[in-house]
Amino acid sequence: MNILVLGSGGREHALAWAILQNPKCDRLICAPGNAGMAAIAECAAFDICNGGAVARFCEENAIDFVVIGPEAPLAAGVADRLRDLGISCFGPSAAAARLEASKAFTKEICAAVDAPTAGYAHFTDAEAARAYIRAQGAPIVVKADGLAAGKGVIVAMTEAEALAAIDTMFGGEFGAAGAEVVIEEFMEGEEASFFVLVDGETCLPIGTAQDHKRVGDGDTGPNTGGMGAYSPAPVLTDAIAQIALDQIVRPTMAEMARRGMPYQGVLYAGLMIRDGQPRLVEYNVRFGDPECQVLMMRLGAQTLDLMLACAEGRLDRVAVNWADDHAMTVVMAAQGYPGDYAKGSEIKGLETCPEDSAHMVFHAGTKAEAGRILASGGRVLNVTARGASLTEAQARAYQMVDQIDWPEGFCRRDIGWRALM
Ligand code: AMP
Ligand code: GLY
Repeated sequence: MNILVLGSGGREHALAWAILQNPKCDRLICAPGNAGMAAIAECAAFDICNGGAVARFCEENAIDFVVIGPEAPLAAGVADRLRDLGISCFGPSAAAARLEASKAFTKEICAAVDAPTAGYAHFTDAEAARAYIRAQGAPIVVKADGLAAGKGVIVAMTEAEALAAIDTMFGGEFGAAGAEVVIEEFMEGEEASFFVLVDGETCLPIGTAQDHKRVGDGDTGPNTGGMGAYSPAPVLTDAIAQIALDQIVRPTMAEMARRGMPYQGVLYAGLMIRDGQPRLVEYNVRFGDPECQVLMMRLGAQTLDLMLACAEGRLDRVAVNWADDHAMTVVMAAQGYPGDYAKGSEIKGLETCPEDSAHMVFHAGTKAEAGRILASGGRVLNVTARGASLTEAQARAYQMVDQIDWPEGFCRRDIGWRALM
């Protein structure tokens, strides 16, 4: 098969790495890709959010299957365009991608099926939103309705903070995404990520993970896209995963199908767990980044078979083969991230890191230039390892981190702390 992976992050490098292990893959092209993907596959440059451009590339290159990594092309309807032309692809329609693109939409779907989640109210008017915050008090959570690259959520510990968030969001800082605001009850508990493949009807869980959103050790400092992850997440026990499937994922997926927008792709449910009960924090319509890296480390070659079964509506006839293993990824970022950072510094020592089924350095923001690997983004490398225990995976990951010679980069030294306490 000729396969096209859309995206340029560590998530897509991990997807490409897993897909290549499957003998069904004859040719792999990544667009736009990065230096890590360029080392294992062909890369192509075109606008991945333009359905017409993606379709044209697929026709010219006899692509059999397209894997869409990030949310932007999904929200832009790239999957719809491909499916209309009979090109098989992994990822939901633009209508179904609203589960990530609109927080108000997700809340409304959850309310329709009584799925456990935070209480909420939805506002298009700043004064009404302020009155609601004053009535509810803090802590309270203020969210821009649309896609805001992970920056549209303010967890306000005081009423003043919440009111300031309303000013910012209605003041236009988030563009069109802020013209509508969802205000939620603050949920306490421990967060974990639950990944489920959905083919429109059947829901097949493929793993759990925990992310580390804050930039600093001990979960301090500003929020980031994610500084490290591990899988499985011990807090998401089999019993809690079953509750999440029965009370949240299956009912919302059935409601989507009932409304004529069946979901097809991976559904990432962010859950808040307290006293054995999961509640939905948010849905994402794609794999998490860096959670995908640890899932791919554990799933390996079967990933492609699972994605094909998902795209072809055969999930009721496949199973996931789990080893009793653990994986961890440590994100190396450019100093300054998530604020301003410099680009172009050279990363050395990568050739000393092993590359096998238990060790892999996935690239995020990198580019190759004259045989050198240069940092070209905020999150730059995802140093990933597998082991019989999380402790072993952690030791292997940090050993590789220590072999990488990149003084302009940094990482958290405590990835996994919650699970290893
Ligand atoms: P979201 O983009 O909706 O995942 O929100 C980003 C982060 O804000 C989540 O990962 C949580 O850590 C936090 N968060 C969002 N909603 C809530 C809530 N209702 N209660 C507590 N924390 C929340
Ligand atoms: N790591 C969080 C996300 O991908 O949304």
